[in-house]
Amino acid sequence: MRVVIQEDYDRMCQWAADYIAAKINAHKEARPFVLGLPTGSSPIGVYQKLIEKNKAGEVSFRNVVTFNMDEYLGLPREHDQSYWYFMHDNFFDHLVDMKPENINILNGMTDDPEGECARYEEKIASYGGIDLFMGGIGVDGHLAFNEPFTSLSSRTGVRDLTTDTRIVNSRFFGNDPEKVPAKALSVGIGTVTDSKEVLVLISGHNKARALAATVEGAVSQKWTCSALQLHNGAIIACDEAACGELTVDTYKYFLDIERKERL
Ligand code: GLP
Repeated sequence: MRVVIQEDYDRMCQWAADYIAAKINAHKEARPFVLGLPTGSSPIGVYQKLIEKNKAGEVSFRNVVTFNMDEYLGLPREHDQSYWYFMHDNFFDHLVDMKPENINILNGMTDDPEGECARYEEKIASYGGIDLFMGGIGVDGHLAFNEPFTSLSSRTGVRDLTTDTRIVNSRFFGNDPEKVPAKALSVGIGTVTDSKEVLVLISGHNKARALAATVEGAVSQKWTCSALQLHNGAIIACDEAACGELTVDTYKYFLDIERKERL
């Protein structure tokens, strides 16, 4: 696992955007570059920087297919808290060459959630899998909507949200946890770890425990993010604020090893 520690949120986002753009640009195959994407506040800065790069002609999304991590069950696209809305508002609508037909987001209004999830897995497989999955994590370490104790080999499916997650996410729903949908559709931990590379953003003091669990804790279904330790191409991009619960040794190790600034 690589852990890239940046001074603050802005630098973390710049690093991640540069990394993603470099990967897209290095992709010379005719088949599209397949990019997994998250929602939440963590990736917003990365999206802004990718938009700037796209507008400046530094990266093209013409040959990029995207798959989003998750979607609330029961929220229509037009709802301003649906992840479909979030992704278009914060990212897709601002790119100059993203093809709408290349955007994949689970349909939260489906009549057949199981079928929708199975089709999503099949579609990912039809492209030969995901090249790079960017993610964020919750304060309890959930990756996508894989709450604590979700199987580390889980696939795309319906998830029950914990009360804790509904409380945390209620900041987007008028501070009323009851307004936060109780269920979501989400890629599984196994879906994420099947990707060739996984890049997870961890920022802020409130994520310090989750970062320590991801990097130093035991691999455990209690912290679903810890599954990344078993992945051969996992990168954590974090800021100083999130490092508060790492041991000094761990912190120094990653600063030392990353000093050479390899992209
Ligand atoms: C939601 C999303 C997750 C995201 C998490 C953290 O629960 N389903 O995919 O990682 O929020 O969000 P934030 O980055 O706002 O802390």
